Amino acid sequence: MALLPILRYPDPRLHTVAAPVAGVDEDIRRLIADMAETMYEAPGIGLAATQVDVHKRIVVIDVSEDRSDLRALINPEIIERDGEQVHEEGCLSVPGIYEKVTRAERVKVRALNDKGEPFEFEADGLLAVCVQHEIDHLDGKVFVEYLSQLKLGRIKSKLAKKARITA
Ligand code: NI
Repeated sequence: MALLPILRYPDPRLHTVAAPVAGVDEDIRRLIADMAETMYEAPGIGLAATQVDVHKRIVVIDVSEDRSDLRALINPEIIERDGEQVHEEGCLSVPGIYEKVTRAERVKVRALNDKGEPFEFEADGLLAVCVQHEIDHLDGKVFVEYLSQLKLGRIKSKLAKKARITA
């Protein structure tokens, strides 16, 4: 397994729309294992392949407190959504920034597992937030882009300042 470098906002590669996975093979399973390791190491509760510069429709999620609920979703799709919730979100590609975003309270998701088998599950609360946030990454969207232009501008300059200090 290997840790993968995570792209930082506003890297334009984060706006790439990921392509569906045609077949689930050993390479895909290795990528999933590396993505899970990278997510846990960060630490984070979700990671999309887009964030490690692999533009395939794959996300890993674990919202448990003890890392006991790893979900790998290949070609995930939201097939039902209802309700509304506001949650303060963060993102491994936008370090140090936490902002409230409105999303569906409940979602039904269809995906392939790491054997290439289709499955469905329902999620609410934090898991539903995380699924929506990660699928957004596959569509080239980062959560801060739900904010006003004014707020987004402030976040960009904050991140630029931080990058200059670390560089
Ligand atoms: Ni994110």
